[in-house]
Amino acid sequence: MPDLAYVNGEIMPIERAVVPIEDRGYQFGDGVYEFVASYEGRPFMLEEHLDRLERSMRELAFDPISRADIRKAVLDMFTLSGYPRAGIYIQITRGVAPRNHAITPGMTSQIVMTIRPVKEVPAEKRKKGATAITVQDTRWGRCDIKTIQLLSNSLAKQKSLDAGCDDAIFVSDQGIVREGTSSNLFIVSGGRLTTHPLTDNILPGITRKVVMSLCTDVNLDVQESFFGTDALLAADEVFLTGTVTELLPMVRIDKKSIGHGEVGPVTRRLYDLLRKKAMAGGGTT
Ligand code: PDD
Repeated sequence: MPDLAYVNGEIMPIERAVVPIEDRGYQFGDGVYEFVASYEGRPFMLEEHLDRLERSMRELAFDPISRADIRKAVLDMFTLSGYPRAGIYIQITRGVAPRNHAITPGMTSQIVMTIRPVKEVPAEKRKKGATAITVQDTRWGRCDIKTIQLLSNSLAKQKSLDAGCDDAIFVSDQGIVREGTSSNLFIVSGGRLTTHPLTDNILPGITRKVVMSLCTDVNLDVQESFFGTDALLAADEVFLTGTVTELLPMVRIDKKSIGHGEVGPVTRRLYDLLRKKAMAGGGTT
């Protein structure tokens, strides 16, 4: 099977999929999305992703859609694609109407999905660790909603690549470390893990939640509190979490080595636990 697209109930090769130009997703970025990945053909944490999708839609006052229908379409796409390790983007926009900032009543949500093999982080990068720059967080005030408005994320990612690094870490005007361009962030200092609390300023990552519960399982001390770039650069270990990233060590940030500049033991242990949980399939926290 080729890479597939789903457009409002119809499944087709990606190249054939089109949306109307007056879709509010195209005109205003008025849409939400999710990304779910499979391991050995089984989607990981699907119900948690559907929960977050519904929450994003509620927060933007979209008309509700059938969760059962979305779930069925997602599972059909995984099955039809036949890829053992696939990633699906589920994207829902408010609807199609003549361009107008005000929201036209009675629109129907537009649902599109695309599925392809997951673009894995190279093994070498996992082994040696990745690098990042910090950038000012120029995103809007509701980063907890997974909207398709990703321009700041995209520009920050490109800036990091142009600087010869792998990713960028958003830092607030007050110097608080938020998250990566498509991942959450943890630091390890003196054996204790810290990550940004769930506020309007970060995405409530599913992988973040899984990693926190793995920490509890193995008695690793993990806390949600704010920290600045000083704590980030002074940490023993730093890693990013996300559905694509999984759990990725960062060994150099703003040209400074983190810890000994190599992948640390806590990061390695948690990555192994995360992989084990993912390969065991399905699962909720
Ligand atoms: N991104 N923070 C941001 C800004 C993200 O875009 C993502 C995910 C995460 C991690 O969330 P999760 O663990 O639920 O994947 C955190 C997805 C993968 C993407 O945009 O492709």
